[in-house]
Amino acid sequence: MRAVTWQGTRHVSVEDVPDPTIQQPSDAIIRITSTAICGSDLHLYEVLGPFMTQGDVIGHEPMGIVEAVGAGVSHVRPGDRVVVPFTISCGDCAMCSHGLQSQCETTQVTEYGSGAALLGYSKLYGQVPGGQAEYLRVPHADYGLIKVGTELPDENYLFLSDILPTAWQAVEYADAPTKGTLAVVGLGPVGQLAARIARHRGVEVLGIDPVPERRTMAARHGIEVFDLAEDTVGEIRERTEGRGPDAVVDAVGMEADGSPFAGLAQTVAGKLPDAIARPLMENAGVDRLAALHSVIDLVRRGGTISLSGVYGGAASPMPLLTMFDKQIQLRMGQCNVRSWTDDLLPLVEDPADPLGVGDLVTHRLPLEEAAVGYDLFQKKHDGCIKVVLDPTIAPAPSV
Ligand SMILES: NC(=O)c1ccc[n+]([C@@H]2O[C@H](COP(=O)([O-])OP(=O)(O)OC[C@H]3O[C@@H](n4cnc5c(N)ncnc54)[C@H](O)[C@@H]3O)[C@@H](O)[C@H]2O)c1
Ligand SMILES: [Zn+2]
Ligand SMILES: [Zn+2]
Repeated sequence: MRAVTWQGTRHVSVEDVPDPTIQQPSDAIIRITSTAICGSDLHLYEVLGPFMTQGDVIGHEPMGIVEAVGAGVSHVRPGDRVVVPFTISCGDCAMCSHGLQSQCETTQVTEYGSGAALLGYSKLYGQVPGGQAEYLRVPHADYGLIKVGTELPDENYLFLSDILPTAWQAVEYADAPTKGTLAVVGLGPVGQLAARIARHRGVEVLGIDPVPERRTMAARHGIEVFDLAEDTVGEIRERTEGRGPDAVVDAVGMEADGSPFAGLAQTVAGKLPDAIARPLMENAGVDRLAALHSVIDLVRRGGTISLSGVYGGAASPMPLLTMFDKQIQLRMGQCNVRSWTDDLLPLVEDPADPLGVGDLVTHRLPLEEAAVGYDLFQKKHDGCIKVVLDPTIAPAPSV
């Protein structure tokens, strides 16, 4: 089959790889019909090279049709249309029972001290072949797979795999009071959806992003938007009676604009041999923390910060004095995808599209054009906000 493979920093290519097969009774094989590129894939593309092996199949936001199931899978059958969560979880262990599927004790990657294994997401998360491919093997399919209807287009359901529950969890964790104010820092796909979810729940939302098209898209959904500028924090504080918002979602992550020093550390780490770079990245402060620091500055005293942006440096410096003095509550983590499915399914099936899932994808490309998709999404060229790769459409003939 054809699959998107990681080849090196800022280098992915579509290659022939062996078709996946059922390896465990709890596996299923899915024929992929849509598979999105996530901001987390950009971290693999740019920063997390030391944890990747050339040829790794990447991608973790897929959906499609069940092709085959192992003997232990009864909840889905061949022919069913399903969405695949990016967190691989068993549904039975103590962590899953607490609704913490991203900490699943059955799939935890103990070698790296990580939580649940993830699809297509580096050695840190189990090096499981990912879903930007024609076919995908899904472990723990009986619990993981989300069965969906056949009427609506893929885009209604696709984001149940990751960014929609991630955004929902970000808003839950932010816990802004109804009629309160939530700032969403970063208006990429996760920030867009978090902002819309909070708006849908009656919270006033202020969104911040340096990219004009992303601000325009958020504004279409009733979000008051701000550019990233020297005085943005002051402007928002003024807008919130001098206190700052009740809660802030960080939907930026480790590659924030405006962190020159850590940016250099990331570049240097990316050029070292993996065996040297890996401990450096695990033990040093390599995150670009501009967004996180502005979030700590921005939130009101006693407010909550909800981090959905992914951070990776074990010693990234944090302003503990300010955090303690401001009495900040901090909540974070990979998404517990299956915890939020029941809340989200009716919303994505609602013809009124209350979360605007029909207004997010800017590019739908053949799987074969994955390299173009990664480049557009990372550089934010051509108004790119969300890319979906489609293994079922043939690439445009080259001229
Ligand atoms: N917790 C989870 O389970 C989970 C799931 C999905 C994605 N993520 C993470 O969420 C983050 C966002 O993902 P995305 O898909 O929206 O990606 P993205 O890269 O498109 O979004 C990041 C946005 O932040 C903006 N930005 C950069 N620096 C900024 C700054 N200093 N202040 C304000 N905005 C800034 C960028 O312009 C961009 O629009 C990534 O770190 C990703 O890894 C986490
Ligand atoms: Zn993701
Ligand atoms: Zn579990």
